[in-house]
Amino acid sequence: MRTGVWLVGARGSVATTAIVGGLALRAGLTGPTGCVTELPDLRGPALPTFADLVFGGHDVATTPLTKRAEALAAAGVLPGRLATALTADLTAVEEDLRPAPTGGSQADRAAAIAAELTAFRDRHRLDRVVVVNVSATEPAPAAHPGHADPDALRAALAGPDEVLPPSSLYAYAAVEAGCPYVDFTPSTGLRLPALAALAAQRGLPYAGHDGKTGETLVKSVLAPMFAMRNLAVRSWSGVNLLGGGDGATLAEPGANAAKVDSKQRVLGETLGYVPQGGTRIDYVEDLGDFKTAWDLITFAGFLGTGMRMEFTWHGCDSALAAPLVLDLARLTAAAHAAGRVGPLPELAFFFKDPIDSPTHSLSAQWQRLVDFASELHAGGAG
Ligand SMILES: NC(=O)c1ccc[n+]([C@@H]2O[C@H](COP(=O)([O-])OP(=O)(O)OC[C@H]3O[C@@H](n4cnc5c(N)ncnc54)[C@H](O)[C@@H]3O)[C@@H](O)[C@H]2O)c1
Repeated sequence: MRTGVWLVGARGSVATTAIVGGLALRAGLTGPTGCVTELPDLRGPALPTFADLVFGGHDVATTPLTKRAEALAAAGVLPGRLATALTADLTAVEEDLRPAPTGGSQADRAAAIAAELTAFRDRHRLDRVVVVNVSATEPAPAAHPGHADPDALRAALAGPDEVLPPSSLYAYAAVEAGCPYVDFTPSTGLRLPALAALAAQRGLPYAGHDGKTGETLVKSVLAPMFAMRNLAVRSWSGVNLLGGGDGATLAEPGANAAKVDSKQRVLGETLGYVPQGGTRIDYVEDLGDFKTAWDLITFAGFLGTGMRMEFTWHGCDSALAAPLVLDLARLTAAAHAAGRVGPLPELAFFFKDPIDSPTHSLSAQWQRLVDFASELHAGGAG
């Protein structure tokens, strides 16, 4: 099943690590550590193989992929030997990277993106293209009447307004080109009534939002534990220190607010109440792509006895995120092949703020994912 993986933000850290990783897996230069679709419970014939994946994408930046891979190697995110061994393959992927369209109305730009997606599919004779948003986090957009339904949206896009934020314009173009869409960021993406209606009309599946790779991953394991033991969480405070392009973006108040909202949702929805405390994200340039999260939890047990726990997470964000991008592309491609339409709550396991998922518990989400993969491999799940 030849599958295009079209990365919005293709020259970013997560995208470059995903491309290098996908090419290295195809060439047998690395193993699948971190790719959950290679676990025995999920592996199977419905998923495209790593060799089936063909990469392309958009970015506003122009730094060559080989340079981005070298920079990530120098930062310790990926092995330098892979950046060197894959130079020719990365140069070949470069041919399928496009600048983000500028000028004209948003309808013109969406048409240009959709045409590039269609050309990519035709050029490589792909069965389908999954569009994955890994571009910089953007602030929540102002409400616009065009967000309500497809006809209002089409009319508004042809006018002079910036109706959609970039993530949603890519999502719109993806849907218009018949491509499933995955949002790995907290940005709006396909989460507008007009776009959800369009995806349904076009018979497309979609998934999101915001990859769960660090502090929130740990929270989604610990919070159910407190709930299941009927312990009262009084406060949960987290401090995240990160550098890299994502850290720089999140230093902007609007993007920071979108990310913090996404991170906090897991507690209220798992515990049934919101404990005191909050999550902070601070930019520390020197940390590069490595992130430190420190969480302090205070809780009460039987007879009100107060207790506390702390954890510290030191993660390499791009190395944690990139294999999940490959997993999501493979699973979403299989869901599309099986005829699935609309949101894919079965992929909640991967996200901080999953669409339509009743639970944030990692173990419950895992079981749902395993069942979904079994159905896909058995020829069902449509
Ligand atoms: N790394 C993780 O663990 C993780 C987890 C969850 C979510 N995310 C999200 O993934 C995204 C990417 O993270 P990153 O570390 O790769 O960031 P990054 O800053 O390295 O990469 C973002 C890329 O998007 C590009 N971009 C910006 N605006 C664009 C536009 N309009 N069109 C096309 N490209 C555009 C930038 O030029 C850049 O190359 C972020 O939104 C981040 O919040 C990352």
